[in-house]
Amino acid sequence: MADKKVIAVVGATGAQGGGLVRAIMQDPNSEFTARAITRDANSDKAKALADLGAEVVEADVNNVESLKKAFQGAYGAYCVTFFWEHFSPGKEKQHAKNMAEAAKAAGVKHVIWSTLDDTRKWVPLSDDRMPTLMEKYKVPHFDAKGEANAYFTDLDLPVTLYHTAFYWENFIYFGQGPKKGPDGKIILALPMGDAKLPAIASEDIGKCAYSIFKRGEEFIGKTIGIAGEQLTGSEMAASLTKALGQEVTYNAIEPETYRNFGFPGAEDMGNMYQFKRDFEEDYCNSRDVDLARSLNPSLKTFDAWLAENKDRIPLE
Ligand SMILES: NC(=O)c1ccc[n+]([C@@H]2O[C@H](COP(=O)([O-])OP(=O)(O)OC[C@H]3O[C@@H](n4cnc5c(N)ncnc54)[C@H](OP(=O)(O)O)[C@@H]3O)[C@@H](O)[C@H]2O)c1
Repeated sequence: MADKKVIAVVGATGAQGGGLVRAIMQDPNSEFTARAITRDANSDKAKALADLGAEVVEADVNNVESLKKAFQGAYGAYCVTFFWEHFSPGKEKQHAKNMAEAAKAAGVKHVIWSTLDDTRKWVPLSDDRMPTLMEKYKVPHFDAKGEANAYFTDLDLPVTLYHTAFYWENFIYFGQGPKKGPDGKIILALPMGDAKLPAIASEDIGKCAYSIFKRGEEFIGKTIGIAGEQLTGSEMAASLTKALGQEVTYNAIEPETYRNFGFPGAEDMGNMYQFKRDFEEDYCNSRDVDLARSLNPSLKTFDAWLAENKDRIPLE
């Protein structure tokens, strides 16, 4: 244990970081051990990671000094931000900057930055096919992460820019899943047209990240992206129909309809889906299922994910 290399994991009690901590700690032959970063070492989730043997340390991404301490002596750092906690691209960029500075100060040898595309490279602010949001963004929770890549690369950090994909867990926790209408029929309504949506079981993001740390040199300085599968709305509806044993119909609504749903973040999400729909080829090409499977041979397909999770999808 003492001579194992430490991977400091931000967001360790969450989906991405949690998957990484579990992947490391559940591999008895690992050359690595995990340092789980949390704001509260006494939470049940933090204790569960300690039970796996992970070191648990407290830090807050708002506080660069706390991050410097948390990254001290680590070989690697997994860096992720939490847009949906605050809905602020400005905060997200500051948090990324803090993590990059802390990684530099600690002399970390491999950083994985969990990023997303800056959609303004495809849809400049002057392009009115989708509305500009918060004055400076098209898809705020994507653009801020993409813009923040520069904090890592400008410091010449040994970084892997890691493009993640839509979690299928969004069908459980994030209100994106199929819903029963007043007539009892189940509809999967997404503004994706006939385009494929690259997506993944969230636990697989951490499993792939573990492999990226193991394969080290091969991925330092690289931009990569992963997905578990790339399926159209109709294909997902067919899988849901099989898994749930009830007919699920895909309804390709318009992004504008989605933007007007009125829940917090609806405009951001509506633009996000439109970006994925309208730039399907580039977006799908940047999320490589074969690469993900080579990193993590147990990568789940949507059907495999549904076999384990179908009863957790709230249809009402
Ligand atoms: N949902 C999707 O489909 C999807 C797809 C791709 C990318 N993403 C991105 O994934 C990111 C979120 O990652 P996730 O899903 O792994 O997160 P998550 O499951 O929501 O977990 C977030 C964890 O972050 C920690 N945290 C929150 N605020 C913190 C702070 N100020 N300082 C330190 N830790 C803090 C919390 O831990 P403690 O309470 O223990 O401190 C929490 O357990 C978002 O930026 C989102 O845009 C999401």
